[in-house]
Amino acid sequence: MKIAILSRGPRLYSTRRLKEAAQARGHKARVMDTLKFALQVEHRDPDVFYNNQHLADFDAVIPRIGPSITPFGCAVVRQFEQMGVFSLNSSQAIAVSRDKLRSLQVLSRRDIGLPPTAFVRRRDDILPAIDRVGGTPIIIKLLQGTQGVGVILAENLKVAEAIIETLHGAKQNVLIQKFVAESKGKDIRAFVVGGQVVAAMRRAAVGQEFRSNVHRGGTTEIVELDDDYERTAVRATRIMGLHVAGVDILESRDGPQVMEVNSSPGLEGIEAATGVDVAAAIIEYLEHQVFFPDIDLRQRLPLNAGYSVAEIPIADKSPLAGQTLADARLREQDIVVLSINRHGVAFPNPTGEQQILGGDILLCYGRMLALKSLIPPKRPRRRKKRRS
Ligand SMILES: Nc1ncnc2c1ncn2[C@@H]1O[C@H](COP(=O)(O)OP(=O)(O)O)[C@@H](O)[C@H]1O
Ligand SMILES: [Mg+2]
Repeated sequence: MKIAILSRGPRLYSTRRLKEAAQARGHKARVMDTLKFALQVEHRDPDVFYNNQHLADFDAVIPRIGPSITPFGCAVVRQFEQMGVFSLNSSQAIAVSRDKLRSLQVLSRRDIGLPPTAFVRRRDDILPAIDRVGGTPIIIKLLQGTQGVGVILAENLKVAEAIIETLHGAKQNVLIQKFVAESKGKDIRAFVVGGQVVAAMRRAAVGQEFRSNVHRGGTTEIVELDDDYERTAVRATRIMGLHVAGVDILESRDGPQVMEVNSSPGLEGIEAATGVDVAAAIIEYLEHQVFFPDIDLRQRLPLNAGYSVAEIPIADKSPLAGQTLADARLREQDIVVLSINRHGVAFPNPTGEQQILGGDILLCYGRMLALKSLIPPKRPRRRKKRRS
């Protein structure tokens, strides 16, 4: 394969390792400065130029987009996607991962533990929001921070309010997040490649510091993850639509809580702590995946043809619960079940003998009218009690 590694720093550890690993597996790899691309947007002929030169074809790109150039970097990746070049992580998923609020919002719908988090704009909403997420001490986070910069611990309400107001005044949006004190300055970094945790470490902050980032001097040790931590990391990565990610997880009293999902996770800390050749794992995965670029199923469906994809949750009382797929006769209603999701485990391409159980979620493709009749009515939301 011909692989382009989009990175501003050819000498950076992660960039070097990816290039080495690609070459060691017999590929051609070129490190290219993301900012030196020029994009040509043209009817049916999207193109890129590098350093003003027309580029030969690449099979895949590995984006290593620094947070300071996210918008342009994502545009470059998107351009390669339009040209049919596979990107290790998609531009869309990278963009979502770069916004901590957006990421947590996306994850919150699914079964992923998260530290309670609030986002407010008005001054009057600050204190009630702090109260709702559990009171002080409280974490205040810039939406776009990285390497621990932009994560603040406020000990009391007055300080918290002052910090948030100051940041708002400086046109900075912030998250208000429960401080998970029992994690004691430690957290888990799980490195996910293609639906598997390939390496994991526990990071510990030094001294009075509560942030465990390696860039903040945090120490690291290899860790064998419990199943629930592993599952959380893999699921969070998938929900974010990422193929490769570094998932930061707090060890809270209530189990794993995801803080963020990094789309350009560093290799140095994790390879040193675990001895795993993460770079090789990434290249090996890329070799398999390059034939399967991300496609948006809905966009590919013919418009107005009356067909769509839908997720059908099966209630315990649903007439479908307990039946086999064959007995449910969905195919006769012009519905194909693409996969069954049971407590986070997927059963792809289920056959007729497969049983449907209450609690399953069926991913279906079919006639919209028929699908609609299977979608259960929305239940009213419960009113939330205020914490005192
Ligand atoms: N809610 C929290 N409770 C306790 N510690 C936290 C919390 N949020 C962040 N931290 C600490 O701060 C570090 C940085 O936070 P994170 O959200 O990962 O931002 P960054 O993008 O800067 O790495 C974490 O690795 C963790 O050690
Ligand atoms: Mg982090």
